[in-house]
Amino acid sequence: MHYFSLFTYAFAALAVSVRSTPINPRQAASWPDPESCTGNCSYVHDPSVIRRSDGTWFRFSTLGNIAIASAPSLTGPWTYNGAMLPDGSSIDVVANQQLWAPDVVLKGDTYYAYYSVSLSGLQTSDIGVATSSSADVGTWTDHGSLGIPKSSAYNLIDPNFFQQCDTCQNYFTFGSAWDMIYQTTLNTDWTSWSGETPNQLAYNSSGSTFEEGSFQFWWPVDGTDYYYLFFSSGACCNTPPNLAPVGDEYKIMVCRATEPTGPFTDRVGRNCQTGNGGTLVLGSHGSNVYAPGGQGVIVDPETGRIALYYHYVNPNIGYDFDQFLFGFNYLDFSSGWPEVTS
Ligand SMILES: *[C@@H]1O[C@H](CO)[C@@H](O)[C@H](O)[C@H]1NC(C)=O
Ligand SMILES: *[C@@H]1O[C@H](CO)[C@@H](O)[C@H](O)[C@H]1NC(C)=O
Repeated sequence: MHYFSLFTYAFAALAVSVRSTPINPRQAASWPDPESCTGNCSYVHDPSVIRRSDGTWFRFSTLGNIAIASAPSLTGPWTYNGAMLPDGSSIDVVANQQLWAPDVVLKGDTYYAYYSVSLSGLQTSDIGVATSSSADVGTWTDHGSLGIPKSSAYNLIDPNFFQQCDTCQNYFTFGSAWDMIYQTTLNTDWTSWSGETPNQLAYNSSGSTFEEGSFQFWWPVDGTDYYYLFFSSGACCNTPPNLAPVGDEYKIMVCRATEPTGPFTDRVGRNCQTGNGGTLVLGSHGSNVYAPGGQGVIVDPETGRIALYYHYVNPNIGYDFDQFLFGFNYLDFSSGWPEVTS
């Protein structure tokens, strides 16, 4: 999540007269609508979803000091429960700062929630962590900043923690505008930076849109371990009459590597750090889905299927910030690349 809509639009407007790339119509025609979502499925940005071992699903999202909702199933009914950090974060980056884009993972008996502290256009953001033994509202303890150094190359927002196995090295990706998506590692306490200099994973040199909201996912296909880097590309949050040119609004893309550190390439072999690579997974389609992004991926033990969850705009409902909806679809990895399927 960045809140750069005017800034983004200013750049995008320069490009609109000379080019306008529509989303891939072949894929667009085959994308199914989001699966059903009941209960509170609105005012959701940058969701992070987990399923507790007792079968309760939790959905964490941007603003409201990290909004927490829960449900008996991924489809709902979702109930809003309250804020993760009712008093905000102990990190202090700027007056009126906001908490964005949580990423929640389980280690042993403890849930770790990584969150961004930022404000629209701010580059001196920071990433903090809170822990809980149950994930419920009222049980979260803030531990403040991870201590990843600030840099003029990147912005410390949109955290994602990835670890393939309990004894494996962890990888921590983040980033947005400026030089986009970076990766470092955390100490084995999962609450502090390891000291490893962040390394750029993905970048788009076109200058008119950003890549952000990265999410790493491991999946083996035909005996090969693949590491997928999902991210959002484009303008997340514009409202009429300032919508981004068609194709430059938010969309979900993916790159792939055989190591968690890359190098990542897309489906046609373009390098995602140096060659503007990125394969479209889900973009605007039909009359009900516009600008999907802020995604994550989870294996749903109830269906055995892999779910891609995200936020999106339904233009028939509205483009306002509080009208963003939670959606998900299933992914098919059999080709070696994630494809949205019904
Ligand atoms: C729905 O959930 C959002 C957070 O995702 C919250 O801000 C809003 O107040 C909730 N609405 C109701 C009616 O509970
Ligand atoms: C890079 O930016 C261009 C121009 O905004 C956009 O059309 C393209 O989809 C972007 N590619 C990626 C991989 O983000």
